[in-house]
Amino acid sequence: MENAPPDDSPFFEVSDLRRGFGGHEVLRGVSFSAPRGRTTVILGGSGAGKSVLLKHLNGLLRPEAGTVRVLGHEIGPLSERELAPIRRRIGVLFQGGALFDSLDVGENVAFPLRERGEKDESRIASRVAEVLDMVGLPGQERKMPDALSGGMRKRVSLARALAPQPECLLCDEPTAGLDPILSESITRLLRRLQEELALTSVIVTHHLGAMRYVADQVVFLKDGTVRYIGPVAGFESCPDAAVRKFIAADEIGRG
Ligand SMILES: Nc1ncnc2c1ncn2[C@@H]1O[C@H](COP(=O)(O)OP(=O)(O)O)[C@@H](O)[C@H]1O
Ligand SMILES: [Mg+2]
Repeated sequence: MENAPPDDSPFFEVSDLRRGFGGHEVLRGVSFSAPRGRTTVILGGSGAGKSVLLKHLNGLLRPEAGTVRVLGHEIGPLSERELAPIRRRIGVLFQGGALFDSLDVGENVAFPLRERGEKDESRIASRVAEVLDMVGLPGQERKMPDALSGGMRKRVSLARALAPQPECLLCDEPTAGLDPILSESITRLLRRLQEELALTSVIVTHHLGAMRYVADQVVFLKDGTVRYIGPVAGFESCPDAAVRKFIAADEIGRG
């Protein structure tokens, strides 16, 4: 086939990406593709460069060398203005998932809709209700963020990211700071959203259990290099020393 159908092309294509800060090289030639409609998990210990890598996927950070392509467009050289239409296709749930504490849940979730120029109040209200329902918080519009548990705040942040119907979701440590039960419930929710909405997701985590549950593809990072890329089953049996050590440490951590 000369012209593959565009939907077969990856959502993200990262090629030999290098990036450092103040002389310290954090990403040392990272390459991977994230297929559409699938969940790619970027796994690794703390300081591996996972968050730095994720921030390159929507142009929050720019490569020093190498390329990042989103739907075929190289984004490294784009201006903020040129990036805007690409960013609109990508929802983000960053670590901490900062909500606006002075706005209630409904206004937090409505925020990206208003930002995009939506003015029809009944359309805004119905979309807000729909995504709150999706994340298991129906009817919580009038709650203030302070009144919510960590797990609920995470869900509201997720609802806010999903409100404008992104094609893709970037998620940094979605289970960080949650107890095991909340952590499991957010993990299940991410899996269900991926199945129901056919979202392309890239999820950063150091949590092996969450990775096992959501990943279609694993990218294991260690010191800014990819030490494994492929399906979960292959990760579990990967002979790379850093991978073995990571899996063993997790087993000890769980007792
Ligand atoms: N904005 C920044 N300025 C300087 N150093 C940074 C910055 N962001 C990340 N780093 C450094 O890059 C390395 C990798 O960070 P990060 O991607 O946050 O790791 P991870 O998310 O895997 O825990 C760390 O050593 C961190 O201190
Ligand atoms: Mg991080």
